[in-house]
Order: sequence, then structure tokens, then C-alpha cells
Amino acid sequence: MQTDTDRLVAHVARLGEEHPPIPMDSVDFTVNDPAGFGARFGHVLDYMARVELEVDRNVLEISTMLPNPPEVDKRFYAEVWQPQEIQHGLILDRLQQVLGRPPADTDLDHVGLKLKVLGLLAHLEPFQDVCRMLYYLTGMATERSAVIAYNLLHNGVIETGEQAVAETVIAPIKRQEPGHYAFYQLSARAHWATLAAWQKWLVRHMRRISFAPVGVNNVKQLADFGDVMETLGVDHEGRDLAADVARVEQELLWARDRGLPVPDYVTRAFREAVEAARARAA
Ligand SMILES: [Fe+2]
Ligand SMILES: [Fe+2]
Repeated sequence: MQTDTDRLVAHVARLGEEHPPIPMDSVDFTVNDPAGFGARFGHVLDYMARVELEVDRNVLEISTMLPNPPEVDKRFYAEVWQPQEIQHGLILDRLQQVLGRPPADTDLDHVGLKLKVLGLLAHLEPFQDVCRMLYYLTGMATERSAVIAYNLLHNGVIETGEQAVAETVIAPIKRQEPGHYAFYQLSARAHWATLAAWQKWLVRHMRRISFAPVGVNNVKQLADFGDVMETLGVDHEGRDLAADVARVEQELLWARDRGLPVPDYVTRAFREAVEAARARAA
């Protein structure tokens, strides 16, 4: 019978074969109306370029927080995830500069004190298992957000008539995100099933106090994220970003609390982002 690990190993191998990092010379950076395009989507590209480039810091965070990751995780980070994401970042950053905007302002090497403390505790195996679960949950929410954002951005770019950007920048990037999401979802489901009741309790508690939207580490970035949500129209036409991003998290962590369709900390974080953006604009 195929185990969860077998499934993950096969998934990572397939991603490695089917999705090599996007070569820079495959991209056509032709933009017909750089000023108009920059005015509409420049801040979105800026946000996404930063988050993608910060994968290098994420890798540092993982090695701090999880001193002994499983082999399949190491392979995913080294052979699939980091090489693909860094290329997304470099391509988006170059596009920004084609539009006459400054390159992304990234934080590539600052691992916060909280994570360092978690990393020390994680030398205790049962605690590392809690940290791993938190990391998979973050990965799931982040990659699901990326899938949604690139789909909406792709539609928006097509609307502007910037064919080259839609076809050679956004479309290839958006094809690589669902595989990342699938990795974190498979990992989260498999790992959750192995945790003891006290570990699950700790995961729920720590997740509730630490959840943040992707790429948000401070108040400015919270408002930036709110602006991205507004421009992409994530909550238009009855879509609910929080429900979509947290669907599996809700099912795994909170299924026993019937009634709430979305964890309240997720809804609150997204609402605060929109409020921060509006307050800044006013
Ligand atoms: Fe990406
Ligand atoms: Fe990704």
C-alpha cells in the first residue's frame, strides 16, 4: 500500500521533472503601456516580487525552526520550492524595473527571535513536531494565497491587453503554485494524523496567536497586503478569500467546533489588512 511518504516523494519527484525553474530568457518583457500598467499593477508586482524573493529567508527560518526535517521535505525545499520561487521573484522584479519602478525591498536574512526560541525548543522531538505542523499550515495558506492571487492577476493583465506579460510572466508562474500548495496540503494532512492530543492543542493555540497573511511582518506590509487585495478584487463576486485560504486548516484543526465556516483569526487578519490600507489612503 502506498504510504503518505511515498505519495509525497512521488509528488516532489514529479514537480522536479515537470516544472523546472522558469528560464529568464523565456520571458518577453514587452509592455505596451508601462505607465498605465505600472499605475494599476505596480504595487501588486512589488508585493509579489518581495514575497517570492524572500524564499531565501524562509529557507533560513525552516532550518532554524526545524533542525531535523524529513528527507522529502529537504528535497522539496532544495530541488523544487526554492529554485522555482526565487525565479518567480527575479522575473517579477525585472518586470517592475522595466516599468520604471524600483526593485523590491527584501529582507533575506533576518530570522526573528521568536523563531530562534522555537528552534531551540525544537531540539525536543515532540516539540519539533508541533513546529512542523505550524510550518505546513503557513505553507498551505501562503501557497493557496499565491494560487488565487496569480489567477486574479492573470485575468487583470489580460484585461489590460498586455499579452506578453500575461503569457510569458504570469501564466508560467501561476502554473507552478498549485504543486507547492499540494505539497503542503499532503504534508499537513499526513502530519496532523500523527500528533498527540496535547500537540494538537498547542498547534491550535500557537496558530491562533501567530497567523498573518502571506508576506506580512509589520504594519506597513499589512496595509500593502490590503491594497493588493483591493486591486485584485479578491472578495468581489461573492468570493471569500479567508474561507478559501483556510479551508483545509478549518477542516483539520477546527472541524469539531461546528458552526464557524472559517477560523476567526484568518477572517480578522484579512479584514485588518483592508482596514489598514483604507486608513493609509484616507
Ligand atoms: Fe511563487
Ligand atoms: Fe509557491
